[in-house]
Amino acid sequence: MEIVKVDSYEEVSQKAAESVAGLLHRKQDAVIGLATGSTPEGMYARLVRMYRENEIDFSSVSTFNLDEYLGLSRDHPQSYHTYMHRHFFDHVNVDPERINIPRCGDEPPELVCRDYEKKLKDAGGLDLQILGIGTNGHVGFNEPAAYLYTDTHVVDLAEETIEANSRFFKSREEVPGKAVTMGVGSIMGAARIVLLASGRSKAKAIRDMCSGKITTFVPASLLQLHKDVTIIADREAARLLP
Ligand code: GLP
Repeated sequence: MEIVKVDSYEEVSQKAAESVAGLLHRKQDAVIGLATGSTPEGMYARLVRMYRENEIDFSSVSTFNLDEYLGLSRDHPQSYHTYMHRHFFDHVNVDPERINIPRCGDEPPELVCRDYEKKLKDAGGLDLQILGIGTNGHVGFNEPAAYLYTDTHVVDLAEETIEANSRFFKSREEVPGKAVTMGVGSIMGAARIVLLASGRSKAKAIRDMCSGKITTFVPASLLQLHKDVTIIADREAARLLP
């Protein structure tokens, strides 16, 4: 695991955007796993800027989002579908046909999961997975538990995740209790993983994921088994690292 410690959130965002741009310069038709949450917003803003300045072209790229809430319509202001369009897809030239976000409408969720996993495999796997991290060490929505799922699946959100994400909703009660998420196997299948972390609230999760020990109760700790992971953390998020 490579740990890149930087001074600020702006630098986390810049380095993350550079890792995406670097990949696109090497491979125009890259398959990229994308994350939501507050952390990657700055990265998306920079990628949009790079696109506008003709530094990168997304026309041949395929994207797979990590997760989506169950029980929200696609156009709900807090769905990850809406998030992705607001922060990224509406401002760049990604082919809509190559955008993949788990569909969480009326279809049976098991079918959605199976179909998503198949699409991921058919695309040849991910060249790069961008990740954030939950305060409890979750990645995607793979929550701490006695066992984790390898493939895309339905998950009950942990209380602390509902609490943390309630800041985006009018009330805690409005936060969906379930989601569809790529599994740890789907994530670990990526050729390269770049995990972004910013702020004090992530310090413990970052320390625990780099501890040299692996536990399903810190899902991000499994990433220690991956051969190409870069953590980009600002001073606050890295403050408990040796
Ligand atoms: C969310 C998402 C994750 C994200 C994490 C942290 O619930 N499912 O993909 O990495 O929580 O979010 P934030 O960056 O807002 O702290």
